[in-house]
Amino acid sequence: MSLHITVFPASTQSGKEAIRALLESDSKSTVKAIYRNPAKAPVEFKEHPNFEATQGDVATGEGLDFSSSQAILYIPPVTYDGTDQGQFATQTAQNVKEAIQRAPSLKKLILHSAMGAQHDHGTGVLRLNHISDRILESVLPEVQIVKPGWFFENWTDALKTMRSDNPSFESTFSPPTHEIPMLSVKDVGDYLAQALLDTTSRPGISSVSLFGPRHYSSLDVKEALEQVTGNKGELITIEKDRLATYFAAHVPPAYAQEFADMVIATLLGGTMAGDFEYGENTVRGKTELVDGLRELYAKQTE
Ligand SMILES: NC(=O)c1ccc[n+]([C@@H]2O[C@H](COP(=O)([O-])OP(=O)(O)OC[C@H]3O[C@@H](n4cnc5c(N)ncnc54)[C@H](OP(=O)(O)O)[C@@H]3O)[C@@H](O)[C@H]2O)c1
Repeated sequence: MSLHITVFPASTQSGKEAIRALLESDSKSTVKAIYRNPAKAPVEFKEHPNFEATQGDVATGEGLDFSSSQAILYIPPVTYDGTDQGQFATQTAQNVKEAIQRAPSLKKLILHSAMGAQHDHGTGVLRLNHISDRILESVLPEVQIVKPGWFFENWTDALKTMRSDNPSFESTFSPPTHEIPMLSVKDVGDYLAQALLDTTSRPGISSVSLFGPRHYSSLDVKEALEQVTGNKGELITIEKDRLATYFAAHVPPAYAQEFADMVIATLLGGTMAGDFEYGENTVRGKTELVDGLRELYAKQTE
């Protein structure tokens, strides 16, 4: 049976890769992708006969129509508009919950979350995922919570600075030998598509961690960046006590401490430090860091 699947917000990194994997699969499933601005749907998706882009926003609840779908993928977005992150997470998850309750044909929710989201405090901005998980985990007979590690795509800027006249890059992970779970968003999308298409009934709430083939340290990142760019460069480590100042230059300052706290949670002795074991509920991604960075580099330089 071919399924009808809704993915939203579709312009998120994981949403885009999940749609790509769904459209590439042999399943013949049809995909409805909800965008704040449907004009942002990639041309290659729009040209696919099984793809439809519609307008909707999880912040207001408008356009969240799942009535023709059997399975949906929700990726809770982070807000940068000044709203408290916890308040935003609560409002958006409530909007999604109400929309799900208006769609009786719906059987399964795949809920994108994050490594560490099971902790109710001490994970900084990831409290948004903790809140979404708690509000939505029982909303349908089948809910799977998917918790990926750190995306390779977060090193996109590092690839650029490694190509400058004085090659260098900044890493928030210290000490430089400390390894954390990192993986490619493509592997995340592949897993999400597979979970959406799986018609085996698994009633109840399940949770899976998505890690890469192995964990990586800042020194591993340096080595991979050097290999991909062909440039030797300097690793500039942002120590724990400078993280909030660092993030204030990258996100609206009101959110800087929460981003710093998220990173601190992954460091030695942090809230998430005990969560990095590969276990029976861990899916191991295929893509090695150097290969993921090579693909990003190719896109930057094409
Ligand atoms: N980044 C990581 O390494 C990582 C790792 C694990 C888990 N996660 C989780 O993945 C989720 C996405 O995080 P991300 O930072 O990686 O974001 P992202 O995938 O880059 O997605 C951000 C996009 O969401 C879209 N969006 C749609 N509705 C929105 C709304 N109402 N408010 C704000 N944005 C909206 C925006 O696209 P338009 O402007 O086109 O509408 C925005 O560009 C989060 O739950 C995060 O915790 C991220």
